Amino acid sequence: MLIEGANVIRRAVRVILVFGAFNVAGAEPVSDDHNPGQKTFLQYCAPCHGKDASGGSTPDIRGLSKEDLVMAVQGVDQMPSIDITDDDLDSISVYLLSLIPND
Ligand code: HEC
Repeated sequence: MLIEGANVIRRAVRVILVFGAFNVAGAEPVSDDHNPGQKTFLQYCAPCHGKDASGGSTPDIRGLSKEDLVMAVQGVDQMPSIDITDDDLDSISVYLLSLIPND
């Protein structure tokens, strides 16, 4: 009886470990605490501008100023207006500045 109980617990622990590991592996893009704008960017902008903001079919927006972003989220031609807070735009612009290539 006792031994059986221990086995059940051991099995439960293993299941928790497996799921724990899976969670880490399958997590969303890791957000950098020093750069909260990354998460916001990935959520609102990356679907069109790419994960590194370098564009593709959309303009490269790395390093653009907050003013540029404020204008853009009101909608420019092909870009729809986006409902986003001023604080989020602040952190996104900080993030975009951090993406400017160093060369
Ligand atoms: C639905 C797709 C889509 C999303 C989502 C999107 N954009 Fe855009 N964005 C575009 C397209 C397309 C353009 C090019 C607009 C044009 O000139 O026709 C653009 C243009 C811009 C420009 C102007 C760039 C330039 O050089 O003129 C800025 C700045 C910009 N986007 C910022 C953002 C930010 C910041 C976000 C997230 C809050 C975002 N966009 C989300 C599609 C998108």
